[in-house]
Amino acid sequence: MGTTTEVTQELVERLAAASDLVVFTGSGISAESGIPTYRGNLALWAGFRAEELSSVAAFERDPGQVWTWYEERRQQIAKAEPNPAHRAIVDLERAFKGFHLITQNIDGLHQKAGSKDPIELHGSIWRGRCTREHIIVDLTECPLTTLPPVCGRCGAVLRPDVVWFGEALPHGPFEAANLAAAFCGAMIVVGTSAQVMPAASLPLVAKQNGAFVVEVNTEHTAISTLIDETLLGAAGGVLPGLVEKVIRRVESR
Ligand code: APR
Repeated sequence: MGTTTEVTQELVERLAAASDLVVFTGSGISAESGIPTYRGNLALWAGFRAEELSSVAAFERDPGQVWTWYEERRQQIAKAEPNPAHRAIVDLERAFKGFHLITQNIDGLHQKAGSKDPIELHGSIWRGRCTREHIIVDLTECPLTTLPPVCGRCGAVLRPDVVWFGEALPHGPFEAANLAAAFCGAMIVVGTSAQVMPAASLPLVAKQNGAFVVEVNTEHTAISTLIDETLLGAAGGVLPGLVEKVIRRVESR
């Protein structure tokens, strides 16, 4: 384990050597797009912490309140643009034959940047799920005309198609993420405190299976001592330079 603030040649070589690369992102990658992260500086909303509103219990108690909170975030995210870190990941996807992007984010900014098929572990704020029939529907209308929104088929209230505290991750995406982590040669972990399980186990799955694992973060995290390298810095500032060097090395072969 090591810490650096510079993109070292060794870091570039280790990443470029991977035949299969995984990028695993958290909310820190969207911080420079103006979207608050979950821990640390997130202001209370109407006196509630995010954890208190992100639960089935909160939704059952007051779906209107939970939806009002989500709707404010949807409107904020709708105005946000991907930043250079999101775009650098698109470049990586084009350069590596074996590539997977796994995200805990629900904001859709990876897709907006051009990433093709990110594995969304925690769902998407741009989808809803019927509380009666459990079908998933696109909910891209913003602002929503009806709060809470209702299912177009059966009229039941929709819930956000996101994973709340205490809920299991969607089976398909989690399985795909575990496989990608287990078989990659290297993983870049960007902007996550790595405190929320089971997503936070993915860098460790990669490491245990022999991958080189580096994180890009403004500070050390829960996994810093368990992985190979911490590259300290803001994702939008650091990642484009790292990616450019890695791609140049890949293309030089
Ligand atoms: N560049 C890189 N890292 C950053 C930046 C930045 N510009 N800004 C903040 N960070 C880092 C912080 O240092 C922190 O480690 O991003 C991380 C954000 O951590 P969290 O707020 O815990 O967010 P995340 O890890 O994505 O949370 C995981 O928790 O509440 C749930 O479901 C929610 O998906 C979320 C999950």
